Amino acid sequence: PRTAAIIVAAGRGERAGGGIPKQYRMLGGVAVLRRTAEVLDRHPGVDSLVVVINPDDARLAHEALGDIEAVLVPGGATRTASVRAGLAALPGNAELVLIHDAARPFVSAALIDRVIDALARCESALPVLPVSDALWRGSEGLAETAIDRSGLFRAQTPQGFRLDALLAAYDRLPDDTAMADDAEVARAAGLSVATVAGAEENFKLTLASDFERAEQILTSGDC
Ligand code: CTP
Ligand code: MG
Repeated sequence: PRTAAIIVAAGRGERAGGGIPKQYRMLGGVAVLRRTAEVLDRHPGVDSLVVVINPDDARLAHEALGDIEAVLVPGGATRTASVRAGLAALPGNAELVLIHDAARPFVSAALIDRVIDALARCESALPVLPVSDALWRGSEGLAETAIDRSGLFRAQTPQGFRLDALLAAYDRLPDDTAMADDAEVARAAGLSVATVAGAEENFKLTLASDFERAEQILTSGDC
């Protein structure tokens, strides 16, 4: 099936700090966004690429992407708004869409395969990982209740969807609603979401310390 990918790269990276938005910072001499876009661009199952950016970052985005062929579109104030903008820019012939965080540069071709494969049997596919730490709820410096961890997992991207189903799900979502990810939008519309195995190395660059971890991975030659 014709498969399009959307990379959401319009965030400000507040938690990571670092002077410029994290997706434009260098990792091992290569911009994060370039690393992310290269994996999707080179994957034989991905036919086209849309990158959603903040218009203030247009020069950084062009520098990062270089010769990678992608349609650049302006994003919105929330991730959900940015995905909407990306969906509106997809080529008319796309049947499947993968939506991926620019801030996950260590996504592998094998993980993309698992997501695409799952879309043959389900409307949506979500890469997940088990939760290994104990989970607690509390407030104001006090732990109150231990949370039952059974049936819980951590979600990653790329999340994959049959495009017509996801477009209908976004159409049903009120304009000002912001959700954590696209699988949540899909579930709100009643779509079925299959889980596939995520990957620990596909972590999201979120905090400053995540950049240290990323540099270590690159210098140890794992990626
Ligand atoms: N994103 C986006 N548009 C937004 C917000 C987020 O395209 N309005 C993208 C980010 O660029 C990132 C992905 O969604 O690739 C996941 O978001 P997150 O890790 O929260 O990134 P930021 O929002 O940039 O970071 P922070 O929340 O720390 O400011
Ligand atoms: Mg954010």
